[in-house]
Amino acid sequence: MALANENYLKTPEISYFDEIEKRVNAYKITHPNSKLIRLGLGDVTRPLPNEVIQAMHRAVDEMAHVETFKGYGPPQGYDFLIDKILKDYRTLGVTLDKESVFISDGAKSDIGNIGHVLGRDNIIAIADPVYPVYENATIMSGRAGIINEDDQKWSNIVYLTCTAKTNFLPELPNEKVDIIYLCNPNNPTGTVMNKAELKKWIDYAIEHQSIIVYDGAYQAYINEDDIPRSIYEIKGAKKVAIEIKTYSKSAGFTGLRCGYTIFPKELMVYTRMGDQVPLLELWSRRKTNYTNGVSYIVQRGAEAIYTRKGKQEIIEIVNYYLKNAAIIRQELRAMGYETYGGKSSPYVWFKIPDEQSSWKFFQQLLYDYKIIGTPGIVFGASGENYMRFTGFGSREDTIEAMNRLRKGY
Ligand SMILES: Cc1ncc(COP(=O)(O)O)c(C=O)c1O
Repeated sequence: MALANENYLKTPEISYFDEIEKRVNAYKITHPNSKLIRLGLGDVTRPLPNEVIQAMHRAVDEMAHVETFKGYGPPQGYDFLIDKILKDYRTLGVTLDKESVFISDGAKSDIGNIGHVLGRDNIIAIADPVYPVYENATIMSGRAGIINEDDQKWSNIVYLTCTAKTNFLPELPNEKVDIIYLCNPNNPTGTVMNKAELKKWIDYAIEHQSIIVYDGAYQAYINEDDIPRSIYEIKGAKKVAIEIKTYSKSAGFTGLRCGYTIFPKELMVYTRMGDQVPLLELWSRRKTNYTNGVSYIVQRGAEAIYTRKGKQEIIEIVNYYLKNAAIIRQELRAMGYETYGGKSSPYVWFKIPDEQSSWKFFQQLLYDYKIIGTPGIVFGASGENYMRFTGFGSREDTIEAMNRLRKGY
């Protein structure tokens, strides 16, 4: 009898995304002619940069000729892309070794898979509210412990509660934790940690021999002073942090799939006997045995992001979404909503009036304003009574949605 990994059964049976779609579809059946506006989107909508498209066309042609055909590539990624990434880090004053860069098929896979190279008994700290994959990956890997049915919290996870009082930023835990997931700029709140705030986490991790899994998926959106573009801008970070990056939200690669993760050679984990092991070595073994890497064509597309034209196109795409976020933020504020984020992030997080539950407000937005948002509760218990709007829609839809809200539709 083949046994199931029952930890998988402990995660929600239907994802929040599917729950939203179910509700939207129910609405559409009774209102087939209604024009809905999606402001809940976590996916991008602008097309790929032309530089990327051209580079991929060239790479496709290479595949058509015996002289230039490419079979299996290096599991860690092609040097041509790794070199561009290293050069980009140097513009931030960060020097990394070539061996520390691992090209991935996007951030989500590495966030999910990092648990493979970390001991089962680590205590994990996760912000609340935050991107739900950190918690689900912890549950599926059998590390989460037992759920408390009352508050839906897991016994082996330390929740870093973010509220209006903490300006929706995580605060250092009182207890010792081993693995800390930090998302900066944060999804869903759009809030950002500055260098001083991040330094506190690095000092904590050094003191407790913990590691930080730093998710920089929205790094391209940072446009405020003093917010680091990489955690390695902060002294000591190479000893304690891996950094996960993706081209999804900057260059529109959500459908194409490419990103990278940095494992500095200085970053150590420990055996039960107390011996040090570079985490990089474990990850490298994992990569060699579990994957044959990311497609050549896609990596050529990613390389094109670093050309002068490519960089310019990315700025334009990101600015488009940032402008939408700014419109949402300003309009909501003018209507009296308490908002967070939306400055260095495509996400605007806002307080729902009258302490309504976030699913109830979701229904109200859908039925009264024909707007789809994302209820805060899906990102963690502390997201209740809040809602997330995003700048990933079109400009026209964003403006129209705000008009509807202002006029009461
Ligand atoms: C915080 C965060 N990390 C990672 C991801 C996943 O990114 P990717 O498309 O690279 O898998 C997302 C996607 O929404 C995200 O919000």
